[in-house]
Amino acid sequence: MPSIIVTGEIPEAGLELLRSAGDVAVWHRETAAQDRTADLAAAEAAVTLLTDRVDEAFLDAAPHLRIVANVAVGHDNIDVAACAARGIAVTNTPGVLTDATADLAMALVLMTTRRLAEGERLIRSGEPWAWGMTMMLGVGLQGRRLGIIGMGGIGTALARRARAFGMTIGYHNRHRVDATVESELEAQLLGLDELLATSDVVSLNCPYTPQTHHLIDRDALERMRPSAHLVNTARGAIVDEAALAEALAAGTIAGAALDVFEHEPDVDPRLRASDRAVLLPHLGSATIETREAMATTAARNVLAVLAGDPPLHPVAAR
Ligand code: GLV
Repeated sequence: MPSIIVTGEIPEAGLELLRSAGDVAVWHRETAAQDRTADLAAAEAAVTLLTDRVDEAFLDAAPHLRIVANVAVGHDNIDVAACAARGIAVTNTPGVLTDATADLAMALVLMTTRRLAEGERLIRSGEPWAWGMTMMLGVGLQGRRLGIIGMGGIGTALARRARAFGMTIGYHNRHRVDATVESELEAQLLGLDELLATSDVVSLNCPYTPQTHHLIDRDALERMRPSAHLVNTARGAIVDEAALAEALAAGTIAGAALDVFEHEPDVDPRLRASDRAVLLPHLGSATIETREAMATTAARNVLAVLAGDPPLHPVAAR
């Protein structure tokens, strides 16, 4: 039986599939370094998590590897070119987390524009409060523009949700989206500067690549409206987090809602202290159904490659 490593806990449904194809070693926080080294030395397949770094050192330690199946749609944690050079397939889990992540992005749009986390903190603080006509006012979404950077599956699914809240859609993407999708959403393709300057909410839904590193930097934040909000459910380092903390403190933008951070799990203390920031611990795909589907998707990719078939969801180097 081929050896398969799973670098952290995944739902049982994924493990069951993997056990049908090989000897499975699941790593836990306590798994000793020498056990990990032995597992890597034998592994023909690795099921990895977005918190793993699959680099040359990882690959050097795993000379028999045939596939790295990442349990995520993002794969910026993997050196895909290095894997390709060694003939190792890399796969991700597209599609199955689109709705869960778009739901979370919409929740963040509402949280930041309606100051929901701030309101919740007020109640939990035990401070006295009283209802008032001008208390903790946010802004409504009807007629406001959502600017989506990255109009793939998640961006498009978010746009559908935002349309139901009365928002208009602008988007910035490498390619124009399908004409039927554009007309269904009445979505307008915009240059980045125009999107930043005209959107009431800017949502990041693009992959993290060398090209999108710090796409939202000080300059980009200054192009946004002082009343605008930033939502990030993609990857933290698309935003220059220090510049964002400064922009929130200075009132350059009105608010930010973040599910991902530049140096996860660390979060800039200035963001943690800011009432203008909504902060979630990378929960985009965190539903029971979605995590199970992600695990089984990764497992099916492993099964395919170990059976000598092409991977189902291969990713290419960017
Ligand atoms: C989550 O962040 C993913 O890329 O699946």
